[in-house]
Amino acid sequence: MANINWMGWLLMVLLVGNDKTVPVSCIYVDEPLLYDTFPPNFVWASATSAHQIEGAWNVDGKGPSIWDTYTSQPGIVAEGATGQTACNSYYFYQKDVDALKSLNVSHYRFSISWPRVLPDGIGRINQPGVDYYKNLIAALKVANIQPMVTLYHWDLPQALEDMGGWLNSSVADWFEEYARLCFTQFGDDVKIWVTLNEPWITAWQGYGLGVSAPAKYGPGTYTYQAGHNLILAHAKVYRLYESSFKPFQQGKVGIALNINWYSPATDLTADADAAERALQFMGGWFANPIFGSGDYPSIMKQKIGEKSALQGFNQSRLPEFTQEQKIFVQGSADFLGINHYTSFLTEDKPSDINDISYEADQDLYAYYDPSWYGSGSPWLKITPFGLRNLLIWLRDRFNDPEMIITENGCSDTAGNLDDMLRIYYFKHYINNVLKAIKNDGVKVTGYTAWSLMDNFEWRAGYNEKFGLFNVNFTSPELPRTAKASASYYAQIIRDNGFRTDQPCNNYPIS
Ligand code: NOJ
Repeated sequence: MANINWMGWLLMVLLVGNDKTVPVSCIYVDEPLLYDTFPPNFVWASATSAHQIEGAWNVDGKGPSIWDTYTSQPGIVAEGATGQTACNSYYFYQKDVDALKSLNVSHYRFSISWPRVLPDGIGRINQPGVDYYKNLIAALKVANIQPMVTLYHWDLPQALEDMGGWLNSSVADWFEEYARLCFTQFGDDVKIWVTLNEPWITAWQGYGLGVSAPAKYGPGTYTYQAGHNLILAHAKVYRLYESSFKPFQQGKVGIALNINWYSPATDLTADADAAERALQFMGGWFANPIFGSGDYPSIMKQKIGEKSALQGFNQSRLPEFTQEQKIFVQGSADFLGINHYTSFLTEDKPSDINDISYEADQDLYAYYDPSWYGSGSPWLKITPFGLRNLLIWLRDRFNDPEMIITENGCSDTAGNLDDMLRIYYFKHYINNVLKAIKNDGVKVTGYTAWSLMDNFEWRAGYNEKFGLFNVNFTSPELPRTAKASASYYAQIIRDNGFRTDQPCNNYPIS
């Protein structure tokens, strides 16, 4: 990727840096690396999620999740793969802790499997499941690693889906009961909680397109209903922690939103507006109620409202918050978790009015620049500038929140140990986080590399590998072996940033 010259860079900073009125900022290419350090006590983490690593899907009293059900149908996941064994971390968690230890991370982000601790979603507690997480947390403590725990990383108990899942407004009560159990059982040792991982995926892919569990199809209707219930459930759990646990456990609770970066494809105002719209529909959908006004972004209300009327609906397909709910939801997070991987170019493009979907509601066309490097995942192009732009955009739109990068990483399909592509990715994305902190004053307090190890990549099965550690899935012991990127990441953590005298920061590929 070409380097931008210093004059150009200065101009960009002047235009973009602190000006809250520009529609969408526009740093398109990578600048030279910034050699500097992160703030003291910066959270350095790596992440996994329960269904992607634990295996032991039906042992010791665990109930089935929607992903267990979904992957049991033929033809859904590449090569018929499932998470039934995965990395077998239910048994091999000590190997994970050893790997984490060698990275020097301060935190490990993992998720609790709801049906492992509450097999029916509510009611009966499964003690062996609770013990598993207690043992994992105890092993982390020995290694001096803090847990960062996600309550919901997509594996809803099937029993709750049978009652409507995220489309049933009672889900907020179910989620509260589950969260209360987790705060009670683990809260003395967990100081960073993430309520929901990527509610966008649940709402749009799970209940909209139907390409992710539980595979319900309602692209212009269920999507927004599920999204609404996800937001209310998140807020309920935040308020529970705030009133009943925070006073003595003293932790923080946030939400992890997946947000791409969208650059305008041209300098036409219409395309800048389209890029802003794409960001609002993806990030603002969840961030504006929680970190902004307490309500959906006005552009979403406007677009969906107008289209719904033209399509013959007697009310907007986007549900409304009551005044009371707005107050309840607004400010219901201590930090904004960002899962970020890639960017798009964006053009204004009116949709067919007969297309009733979240995608069509946005009236735009988003695509990848063909010059961007690819990865092992078709959807992931390597665009480090996007992360810095996104952080600035979030700062400006949502009241300068504390942010933790809860996921960022790169896939390949080889799983090779000399993973130069992943080093390139981490180097430039992490450096853009550093620039956002040092040059733009964005309040980022942590960074999490996805993923600790190769694992069950949902519908892509085991083909798309994101790990800092390779897992040999053909050996029953499932050994974890450090890739070159693991040493590189460990070095960044050791230095708490970038030093000119580290040869790994000066690879020719920069
Ligand atoms: C987002 C998800 O949270 C995680 O489960 C997934 O593996 C990564 N992105 C990579 O696709």
